Amino acid sequence: MKRIITGGAGFIGSNFIYYMLNLHPEDEFICLDKLTYAGNLENLTEALEHKNLKFVKGDIADRKFIYDLFEAEKPDQVINFAAESHVDRSVLYPDEFLNTNIMGTGVLLDACRKYGNIRFHQVSTDEVYGDLPLDRPDLFFTEKTPLHASSPYSASKASADLITQAYHRTYNLPVTISRCSNNYGAYQFPEKLIPLMIWNAEHDKQLPVYGEGKNVRDWLYVEDHCHAIDLILEKGKIGEVYNIGGHNEKTNMEVVTMILEKTGKSTDLIKHVTDRPGHDRRYAIDPTKIHDELGWEPETPFAKGIVYTIDWYLSHNEWMEHIMNGSYDKYYETMYKDREHKFAR
Ligand code: NAD
Ligand code: TYD
Repeated sequence: MKRIITGGAGFIGSNFIYYMLNLHPEDEFICLDKLTYAGNLENLTEALEHKNLKFVKGDIADRKFIYDLFEAEKPDQVINFAAESHVDRSVLYPDEFLNTNIMGTGVLLDACRKYGNIRFHQVSTDEVYGDLPLDRPDLFFTEKTPLHASSPYSASKASADLITQAYHRTYNLPVTISRCSNNYGAYQFPEKLIPLMIWNAEHDKQLPVYGEGKNVRDWLYVEDHCHAIDLILEKGKIGEVYNIGGHNEKTNMEVVTMILEKTGKSTDLIKHVTDRPGHDRRYAIDPTKIHDELGWEPETPFAKGIVYTIDWYLSHNEWMEHIMNGSYDKYYETMYKDREHKFAR
């Protein structure tokens, strides 16, 4: 079995490569990644020692490049992690999101059709469902919840989902889609909440909490996500969508306070800053379908996963410093300079 993993040098993609090399060491894997600011070959240092992993640098939206690759490699399966993935960046620069997330997915689907009806899995997100009100804890996203995206990021992912489903219905392409809640764990780029707050806490920098910090996210340890995708590839029903989430809802303030507690830092570091435009209030997944049909359930409780994650970041200073030495400072300045004033309560 030969599998192309797009976006494999990013956070979840690299975790997935380690997970799969361990579980299916006899398979061949091709990591295809454009190495944007979020792609980092250092994430794959150990994985690349494995004889069955090959790295190819390229853009999923580059049709000629993708067709040539498929022609040469003849893959059996494509798992598409490649995406622009950060909501705040999508607010500032939506066009790159439309190009990679929509056009890029379209090119991969065309290649799957052209080179032998190849099995395609689209790694999607619960954000395609929009958000839920904070005062209705009884509501959850199911696979039947209508798509109702809020940000350019989530709208581009919702578009990719619709195109993926259309290729199944129209061309009978063997596809599946998974929609997962927020992931955390090793190798996550420190623009996202958890690694950003760990780094700032450790360096006694302010922790910028958007608005009051009451927004809720449903956190899942990244290896539990990898396990779910592997099950879908093995046993999932073609044409179906599977929601992935572990009923682990936390407000942003709960997460940030926990990080401060575990790093032994004061809550005085918290700074409430101007809110994100269109900020989704609550995400909450109903994972009944993947549990009942495929037997999936999360294995890592948050209390354990967050300690492991904090330890990982604190013991990978070099990894962090290489990122910090790049364009990160400029990003941080652009993203947070206009948020200086305290949130008005
Ligand atoms: P990430 O930003 O860490 O990694 C994305 C990877 O895609 C990077 O390695 C980047 O170089 C690569 N990439 C970007 N544009 C590309 C292009 N045009 N061609 C080839 N490669 C390209 O993202 P992540 O957090 O690992 O997310 C991976 C996938 O999972 C995304 O599709 C995202 O929508 C989805 N997802 C993420 C989360 C989460 O909490 N992080 C939750 C649910 C779903
Ligand atoms: P993020 O990790 O960007 O994931 P997403 O927006 O895709 O859920 O953000 C998680 C939550 O944390 C979200 O409600 C926004 C909030 N947040 C902050 O309060 N401060 C920050 O500096 C960041 C990056 C996020």
